[in-house]
Amino acid sequence: MSFSKMAVLISGRGSNLAALLEHQHKGDLYVDIAFVGSDNPEAKGLEIASSAGIKTILLPYERGKVFAENCLIEALEKHEVEWIVLAGFMRILSSRFVERFYGKTVNIHPALLPAFPGAHGIEEAWNYGVKVTGVTVHLVDAGVDSGPILAQEPVRVLEDDTLATLEKRIHQTEHELYWRTLRDLFAGTLKPRKRRTL
Ligand code: GRF
Repeated sequence: MSFSKMAVLISGRGSNLAALLEHQHKGDLYVDIAFVGSDNPEAKGLEIASSAGIKTILLPYERGKVFAENCLIEALEKHEVEWIVLAGFMRILSSRFVERFYGKTVNIHPALLPAFPGAHGIEEAWNYGVKVTGVTVHLVDAGVDSGPILAQEPVRVLEDDTLATLEKRIHQTEHELYWRTLRDLFAGTLKPRKRRTL
């Protein structure tokens, strides 16, 4: 089994990054993480990356999206990265970027898409009063959380849940679903499929 070379992009806490690292160390996921990129210098996930000995890169969004994405592209090319894994990355990538790396950029979202896309998927599902929500892993396209779905896992909303307990179970579900989906995608056993209808 050969190692897949990937970069992880984060903006915050980095619990999904930590879960991927855990499964890499366990030998579940054959990956070489070239670098962890962040638009946010305060992201906790950067400490997780550094303490695992992984190179970190700050994406200079304060100089504009085009400049920041050009820095990212340069790093991806320099390190010959094959897969770009978004794990709580809060920036919308431009269509120029997305088209260039289409099929190779993956995201995880804490709701059952196409329901509750955007930055507040857990809270919006909770406020709506759904009985089932969940987690989606999908390819990134030029829209917001709209690319082809690779995997989904439902999470039931329990009678005695609070937003906090629901959030906890969703994150636990993410931490299990992401590495499994990436493993299958990288191995070629999971084939992305287009929507049957629009
Ligand atoms: C996760 O809920 C992920 O689905 C969403 O952003 C959150 C990131 O959490 N895209 P963390 O930084 O991995 O802890």
